[in-house]
Amino acid sequence: MDRNATRPIGVFDSGVGGLTVLDELLARLPSEDFIYFGDTHWFPYGDRSADDLRSRADAIAAWLLSQDVKMIVVACNTATAAALAHLQTHVDEPVIGVMTAESHAAVQSSRTRRIGLLATEATVASGSYQRMIAAHDAGARVTAVPCPRLAPAIQSGDPFDQSVVDMVREYTQPLRDADVDTVILGCTHYPMVERLIRRHVPPDAALISSGVEIAREIAGTLERQGLLAHGGEGNYRFACSGDPTAFRTIGSRFLQMPFGEVEQVDPGAAPTP
Ligand code: DGL
Repeated sequence: MDRNATRPIGVFDSGVGGLTVLDELLARLPSEDFIYFGDTHWFPYGDRSADDLRSRADAIAAWLLSQDVKMIVVACNTATAAALAHLQTHVDEPVIGVMTAESHAAVQSSRTRRIGLLATEATVASGSYQRMIAAHDAGARVTAVPCPRLAPAIQSGDPFDQSVVDMVREYTQPLRDADVDTVILGCTHYPMVERLIRRHVPPDAALISSGVEIAREIAGTLERQGLLAHGGEGNYRFACSGDPTAFRTIGSRFLQMPFGEVEQVDPGAAPTP
């Protein structure tokens, strides 16, 4: 096996949301090693400017590369919308983001061509999903709903109460009004409340999330580039920029595998808090 194939894969998000992507990657690529970074000190990303998001992405990518990663996975829709193209032009290793695969999957799944999108304010405002969907089907109608309070409610780690139910009911109202048949969960935090979202979208609507789609794409890229690790059981470790104990407590509620120690690192220049 190529020596490069045994290097780890770096995965990052603003917080615990990217664990929904890591979960899929751990299941699908059991021989790979992973380093997951949650930028919890700078959470949430959803209301940050594109400039701030690019500077965080640069700093995190530099730290991951210092850990000798062979690939970087941007497991955050907001960071993908603002910084994926920027990272790809600066980083030599493959950088893969969410969004493209889900957009394609949504167009393939929709019969009525009425597609709903739930995402952060920054992601909706970037228009990235709308453009990607239009590239596959220019006639598809996208109902995009910014959900500014949802990722913070999920990340707060409190048991979900009636306020989260009310929030989900409110954010999904435009999707019921538009009678969409496919809904993109356009933020990696949202699969953590998938059951709740399912209760409030039109019956039988297909829910498309990043984890499954991106895991497929990453496996294909590693294979084609001869970077796939074979044989043996890979390992995974965690780092975050905020409080490691809080990250571990919330993260271990969502990851369906044991959660080890969490290292605290705060890479690079900080944006305005
Ligand atoms: N999990 C992130 C995303 O996929 C961002 C949530 C946030 O930091 O606002 O968009």
